[in-house]
Amino acid sequence: MSSQFPEARPRRLRRTPQLRKLFQETEFSLNDLVLPIFVEEEIDDFVPITSMPGVRRIPESKLAGEIERYARAGIQSVMTFGVSHHLDGNGSDTWRENGLVSRMARICKDAVPEMIVMSDTCFCEYTDHGHCGVMHGAEVDNDLTLFNLGQQAVAAARAGADVIAPSAAMDGQVQAIRRALDAAGFHQTSIMAYSTKFASALYGPFREAGGSALKGDRKSYQMNPMNRREAVRESLLDEQEGADALMVKPAGAYLDIIRDIREASRLPLAAYQVSGEYAMIKFGAAAGAIDEERVVRESLGAIKRAGADLIFTYFAMDLALSGI
Ligand code: PBG
Ligand code: ZN
Repeated sequence: MSSQFPEARPRRLRRTPQLRKLFQETEFSLNDLVLPIFVEEEIDDFVPITSMPGVRRIPESKLAGEIERYARAGIQSVMTFGVSHHLDGNGSDTWRENGLVSRMARICKDAVPEMIVMSDTCFCEYTDHGHCGVMHGAEVDNDLTLFNLGQQAVAAARAGADVIAPSAAMDGQVQAIRRALDAAGFHQTSIMAYSTKFASALYGPFREAGGSALKGDRKSYQMNPMNRREAVRESLLDEQEGADALMVKPAGAYLDIIRDIREASRLPLAAYQVSGEYAMIKFGAAAGAIDEERVVRESLGAIKRAGADLIFTYFAMDLALSGI
């Protein structure tokens, strides 16, 4: 007992690479990753996104080829974001049968039928004011937006999207979309709810990526980053409304929330490593301050360890090519 030596020696299990691997508690693989992509209509060439080094807007005409390239690398799922040239007050292009949302889903599924296509379901990239719904005076009108979300979801499902991912942060959006999908016969189309979505400064680079017209902020519909109880409540509401899977966004600064929701629900849980998280790693590595690949692995591993089953990350293709 009063030995001069420590009895507990955790270092015993860390002695060799083989031991460390054997006792590693958390793993992630390509099976867990979803690649978000930006697709722009009416352009001919890729457009680099300067705030997200390595990420480019894909011309619609080159989308099929890109999807094939991702599939060859082992990517199993993408999330589509459109960069629209057809903006109006309520984002009506999103529910047109041949609008950009529908075309993206169709092109992806035609190119690689096994690719799981998630359709980001919102309006901010299709509205002239850049908000995520219909404006009523200075406010985003929740219930008018719900109706439009239902229409967009049905259009995307009809075009072949496997998963509808509503990110508008409207109250009741999951229920509205579930009802609209079921009424149109799309009982098998699932809903990945952006169920706990914070009004985060980490979305900055995404706004450049999507060419956002937004002036102001989304604080009247997205959550206050300082609220932990409300974060759990938001996800549980989406579960009650019929979500098939939940999501926390952003990821890295919200590991406590991921853990809370993991313990409060039995649904699959995703986390979204957002544009600002990506940019910080890229620019930090470019400045020589950190080792990019190691930080990427550590950040994704930590998100899994916190309790996420799947991760949306712009690093998915890099990881696929480096052979995880
Ligand atoms: C918009 C939307 C945003 C993101 C996904 N969907 C930005 C926002 O809410 O302002 C952020 C993604 C990212 O930053 O990587 N509904
Ligand atoms: Zn939006």
